[in-house]
Amino acid sequence: MAGAAGFIGSHLCDRLIGDGHEVVGVDNFITGSRENVRHLSGRPGFSLIEQDITETFDIEGHIDAVMNLASPASPKDYLEHPIETLEVGSTGSRHLLEIAQRHQARYLLTSTSECYGDPLEHPQSESYWGNVNSVGPRSCYDESKRYAEAITMAFHRKFGVRTNIARIFNTYGPRMQLDDGRVVPAFIDQALRGEPFTVFGNGSQTRSFCYVSDMVDGLVRLSGSEERYPVNLGNPVEMTILEFAERIKRAAGSTAPIEFKPLPEDDPRRRRPNISKAKRLLDWEPKVDLDEGLRLTIAYFRQKIELPQT
Ligand SMILES: NC(=O)c1ccc[n+]([C@@H]2O[C@H](COP(=O)([O-])OP(=O)(O)OC[C@H]3O[C@@H](n4cnc5c(N)ncnc54)[C@H](O)[C@@H]3O)[C@@H](O)[C@H]2O)c1
Repeated sequence: MAGAAGFIGSHLCDRLIGDGHEVVGVDNFITGSRENVRHLSGRPGFSLIEQDITETFDIEGHIDAVMNLASPASPKDYLEHPIETLEVGSTGSRHLLEIAQRHQARYLLTSTSECYGDPLEHPQSESYWGNVNSVGPRSCYDESKRYAEAITMAFHRKFGVRTNIARIFNTYGPRMQLDDGRVVPAFIDQALRGEPFTVFGNGSQTRSFCYVSDMVDGLVRLSGSEERYPVNLGNPVEMTILEFAERIKRAAGSTAPIEFKPLPEDDPRRRRPNISKAKRLLDWEPKVDLDEGLRLTIAYFRQKIELPQT
């Protein structure tokens, strides 16, 4: 599993090891950390290799599946590492596909809802081709993932590699980085510190948030399916960023005010998955509701943040 030391990757490791699989984690720690998988070190069935997947490498022994979760994923991370982001989706994806081909293993790509860009269709279903600005600041991520999807389909069509493509929508939970600029950790951080909440724009833009255990379950189900075309995975419960800020304020017991700042360039206005394909093919839909997911996530961050003594 490439990207094993990241947020979603580390939870997927937990799940696969719990299910009795052996996992070789591969990561260069550009945005992930050893801390995320420290609890697995020494566990039979888990090993971790420091490796940049944009360089050629191989894994010894029998491999059933190659899972590609490697990529900077938050806007802050990919804007800081635009070239690495383009390289990991292109060269990195190619290297992992070659490993899957050599070992006759399955291949799972974690793509993204960003492939839909600022969508003109709502909610977004897999048949929608997207509205992406190829030269905007976010294009390093969006186009990297679109290329990653394209090369995945090419390896399937040309070499018969058994591929799957997950289009992941906003996912949250423990082990996100507190300072990665994504809305969930940012709001929770502000709530726990009693600082004002920062909302970009007027807060009327919408998002939908999927708890990480639901996402991991969707990825496991997809990786066992024969569906080659992309499948949306995400939570279809949509709310405005302002409503979301209020839910976190309540869950964390904050009374701080909300402050508004200008909207970043190319920030999508609406984002909500149509998950009927995943329901039909994988019998999958999210089970953890927002209040429960926030409770678990806030408890994790409470432990992480050293709050000033009062
Ligand atoms: N979290 C979300 O809401 C979300 C939404 C859509 C798609 N995704 C996708 O899911 C995957 C995991 O996302 P995440 O939120 O866990 O991000 P993350 O940044 O926590 O994890 C990504 C991991 O990949 C590693 N990595 C990056 N480049 C690498 C390289 N060249 N070689 C080896 N390792 C490398 C990082 O060090 C990190 O551990 C990503 O591919 C991301 O694009 C995530």
